[in-house]
Amino acid sequence: MSDLHATVAPTPSGFHITGTETITYTFTFQDSIFSSSAPQLAKIYTPFSRCFLIADATIIHLYGAQISSYFSTHGIALTVHETRIGEKAKTMETMLGICEAMTRFGVLRKEPVLVVGGGLVTDVAGFACAAYRRTTPYIRIPTTLIGLIDASVSIKVGVNHGAHKNRLGAYHAPLHTFLDFTFLRSLPEAQVRNGFAELIKISTCADLRVFELLEQHCEDLIKHKFGRAEGAREELRQAADEVNRRGIERMLQLETPNLHEIMLDRVIAFGHTWSPTLELAPKVPLRHGHAISVDMAFSTTLALVKGMMGVEEHQRILRLFSRAGLSMDHPLLTEELLKKGTEAILKTRDGKLRAAMPVPLGGCTFLNDVTEKEMGEALRKHKEVCMAFPRNGEGIDAYVDASDTGEGMAQMVGTVGEKAGGLMDKIGKMGGQLLGARQTVEHLPN
Ligand SMILES: NC(=O)c1ccc[n+]([C@@H]2O[C@H](COP(=O)([O-])OP(=O)(O)OC[C@H]3O[C@@H](n4cnc5c(N)ncnc54)[C@H](O)[C@@H]3O)[C@@H](O)[C@H]2O)c1
Ligand SMILES: [Zn+2]
Repeated sequence: MSDLHATVAPTPSGFHITGTETITYTFTFQDSIFSSSAPQLAKIYTPFSRCFLIADATIIHLYGAQISSYFSTHGIALTVHETRIGEKAKTMETMLGICEAMTRFGVLRKEPVLVVGGGLVTDVAGFACAAYRRTTPYIRIPTTLIGLIDASVSIKVGVNHGAHKNRLGAYHAPLHTFLDFTFLRSLPEAQVRNGFAELIKISTCADLRVFELLEQHCEDLIKHKFGRAEGAREELRQAADEVNRRGIERMLQLETPNLHEIMLDRVIAFGHTWSPTLELAPKVPLRHGHAISVDMAFSTTLALVKGMMGVEEHQRILRLFSRAGLSMDHPLLTEELLKKGTEAILKTRDGKLRAAMPVPLGGCTFLNDVTEKEMGEALRKHKEVCMAFPRNGEGIDAYVDASDTGEGMAQMVGTVGEKAGGLMDKIGKMGGQLLGARQTVEHLPN
């Protein structure tokens, strides 16, 4: 942030202050950000001769050696703080653990912390940076599709608290976000599909060209990790780049005039009206992408029932969810759940439904007036329509599993102790072999 301006006006009983702050932050598309040919991070950290990195266990396991080698090559000492994986670890405890590690490291006031990982770690570490000394700069490198095209596009950071997702948080823009889609190579297909849902969201409501590209390349984009998988066609990669660039730009155009979400009619809230209630309703929670897909598909049928959309367009949108393997319906999507979801969302949207609808396709209409009767009718119609689709509209890998909670990590890298030892070893060796830069690994108590 820079350019602070404020006026102090006396009032009969005190003063009134009006101020503005300019927020500036930058996005750079850069594949292979940790390859020796990418100079950006070295330029940022060379003046400090050191870098404090926060990442989760998966990222450190998969990319620790490469990251370490990058900094060693540039003579920059690297200290790594590893966080736990999974929504259950998105807590104040994790956030405070990061703050304590920052103190041990002795982060200087203007020294940017480096955060690498999915939406979860960028949210928690971003919140730690927002709170640490009231504000500490950070550099963000998202590594999941959700992170790349959604979480890292916003400046919202935070942790879960009580039974509530993201209840404690802040608005804290990073100095710089590097968007490196080669991280998708190692991302499980189920996680890519999860992020694909957010791209359907932005395209159906805001960008017809992106919707057409998703239609054209749907299965290939998911299977070949947005053209980054080994042997992917150049044409696919180009299509993926256009989808990502346009999708992110559209999100920024829509959201940056409203960074603090004061305006509640939000196009990018398509699919986020009833889904918060549905996502956590099953015993094992639905993946976010699947929960919003059910919401988006149902909203589309509601638009049909209300005469806002024709049959052909309705089928066209639903077909994309189906081809992507995303959920379109769920047994727990009932009239009762819709009622509960409506009540909950009215509280956060100032008493109005404000449901974004993809009407016309590639544009958005907000729906406020819908009767209980219409909701029931739309629900019956929706369930009937979904029966005609493969899997009766059920999604593929729709539920949260070990790749979200980190349980798979234990198998991948052994016990926590072994993991810490093995990694220290690996990073230590890299440092020794290369420029001998100091490398440290910190671990959270589990
Ligand atoms: N700030 C925002 O505006 C915003 C927007 C959307 C989502 N979010 C938040 O983001 C979180 C979800 O983010 P997510 O879907 O990225 O989940 P995540 O960060 O939990 O990552 C999912 C899994 O993928 C692993 N992973 C990350 N990168 C990988 C890679 N390149 N290869 C292999 N595995 C990798 C992670 O270790 C984890 O196990 C939620 O907490 C949500 O609230 C925030
Ligand atoms: Zn979302």
